[in-house]
Amino acid sequence: MDSFPAERSAIVTGAGSRRGIGRAAARRLAADGWSLGLLDVDGSAVHELAEELRDELGVRAVGMGVDVSDSAAVSAAVDEIENAGLPPVVALANVAGVSSPTAYEDLDDAEWERVLRVNLFGVHYVTRRVARSMVANGGGRIVSLSSVSAQRGGGTYSKTPYSVSKAGVIGLTRALARELGPRGITVNAIAPGPIDTDIMGGALTDERKAQLAEDLLVDRVGTVDDIAAAISFLVSADAGYITGQTLNVDGGLYMH
Ligand SMILES: NC(=O)c1ccc[n+]([C@@H]2O[C@H](COP(=O)([O-])OP(=O)(O)OC[C@H]3O[C@@H](n4cnc5c(N)ncnc54)[C@H](O)[C@@H]3O)[C@@H](O)[C@H]2O)c1
Repeated sequence: MDSFPAERSAIVTGAGSRRGIGRAAARRLAADGWSLGLLDVDGSAVHELAEELRDELGVRAVGMGVDVSDSAAVSAAVDEIENAGLPPVVALANVAGVSSPTAYEDLDDAEWERVLRVNLFGVHYVTRRVARSMVANGGGRIVSLSSVSAQRGGGTYSKTPYSVSKAGVIGLTRALARELGPRGITVNAIAPGPIDTDIMGGALTDERKAQLAEDLLVDRVGTVDDIAAAISFLVSADAGYITGQTLNVDGGLYMH
């Protein structure tokens, strides 16, 4: 898909969290002119955000409470978004995710499954449902949040199941880029470094930010707007020749 319809929608998962990447991405995409379908396990947060975006930016926006790890619920939520009269879905940003700082020797089966189910199965469930609409609409753009943890085996806060789930997102991205490319759909991942949100066990103190920045080439932790800008570009019409890639937005933490 090289030219986009003038009226188009983006679905953003994980847009509930007040200081999170999903909300910043939703705001950025709304400012770029996208209508928005917002999904989050915190339904009231995305309902409120949809209302804010409608009032402040005049875009069409719908919020829907859904657990991305529940395949049937995901399908029903995307059906509802489409039936709410939004323009065709051209972009998907898979941002919803959970952290997991448990040491490997203490890891039980339930924690392993929780993290894989949300961070990897969830991306697959939402992507599969939305890709079906994109194929019917003639193309689209998919971007999913991986992490530098996939590339470095952790090292910031979360540990093994998180790294595994985020490495899975990179594999899923490459396989889907290959499968969906001929259908006019580009599929990419973003691997953020440490970003100032609440996912690493709550708000980062100044001391923690300084510690995290020690390994970086850019002397600060990242902001949600650093990631929102990358999402905005990868779902834009201009990014049509980029697919199957992982864009590292990490202040130089990992070079590849
Ligand atoms: N902040 C970082 O340093 C960092 C670094 C690398 C990658 N990431 C990734 O970026 C994404 C966003 O992270 P964030 O820092 O904004 O975290 P956050 O905790 O602020 O936001 C995560 C959002 O996902 C939602 N969510 C969690 N489980 C869900 C489920 N089962 N179904 C639907 N929604 C669910 C939460 O309600 C929340 O709104 C995550 O995938 C995360 O792994 C973050």
